[in-house]
Amino acid sequence: MNLLPALLSLAWALACPSPLGAAPAVPPPRESAELAARYEAVSTPQFIQGQKLISLLSIEPGDSVLDLGCGTGRLTEQVAKLVGPQGKVVGIDPSVHRIAIAKQREAAGLSFQVAGSDDLASFASGSFDRVYLNYVFHWIDKKEETLRQIYRILKPGGRIGISTGRKDQPSQVRELIRDSIREVLGKVPPDLFVSAFHLTPRELRSLAEQAGFRIVDFQILPFSDYAKDPEDVIAFLSASSSGRFLSGVGEDRRERILSVLKQKLSKIQTNRGIVMEHPAMLLVGEKPR
Ligand SMILES: C[S@@+](CC[C@H](N)C(=O)[O-])C[C@H]1O[C@@H](n2cnc3c(N)ncnc32)[C@H](O)[C@@H]1O
Repeated sequence: MNLLPALLSLAWALACPSPLGAAPAVPPPRESAELAARYEAVSTPQFIQGQKLISLLSIEPGDSVLDLGCGTGRLTEQVAKLVGPQGKVVGIDPSVHRIAIAKQREAAGLSFQVAGSDDLASFASGSFDRVYLNYVFHWIDKKEETLRQIYRILKPGGRIGISTGRKDQPSQVRELIRDSIREVLGKVPPDLFVSAFHLTPRELRSLAEQAGFRIVDFQILPFSDYAKDPEDVIAFLSASSSGRFLSGVGEDRRERILSVLKQKLSKIQTNRGIVMEHPAMLLVGEKPR
């Protein structure tokens, strides 16, 4: 048996304890050029929810905007159109493969860099009108420090926008994943298939307020679409999680869980496909003037 993945996960868990205490660390990403390309193809749910977030941020021509965790830059490119030629949009993401795709979108006023939430110290204080994170916050472990840095790099009156998954989010697909894991492992290790860093609505609001933001808007937005078939569901979950989906259990058991899961998913397949729910919490906060 190949023990390397399990050892890597263990090393990651020991090296990165969660600041929120109870939650264990998630396995490290397993990004590849192929997964990044697949994310570009399957990220329409994130793109649709991201457009709602952007509409709440009142972005204006000439604004300077940071897209933190921009992925392949689909939404960032839209935002660049809003700020126009007088504005500036920077997209950053720790995945070199995603940034390689995003860089093909670069244009006047729109640039991308490989960097993540741990690198915000390199931006000058008061340098952005807007900073947003679309479906990223639930992958960030050092949330308090990240919010502190975002507060610093925003101008007074500047706004933060966060769309993120919920810890307590009900979904039929999630239930089937849970059942499949239980069938193979005999138990469901906490946070095996969703990020350990998900928050409840109350936790998200309170973190933003503690960082000094005035909450301007907070919404829970339901959204669902269809995956074509079980393979399509698994492709979405793998690409969206940067390859972390079920990566903490070792290859043999992962394959067994996936096989059970595919059978269960095929039972809920309809003519239109399999319903996938992607609800998001949307928060907009303002740095007081
Ligand atoms: C679900 S994708 C969302 C991508 C993009 N925002 C979108 O709307 O399509 C999550 C992204 O968060 C990035 N990410 C993970 N950890 C991060 C961190 N600590 N700082 C910044 N980005 C991070 C991943 O590389 C990935 O591109």
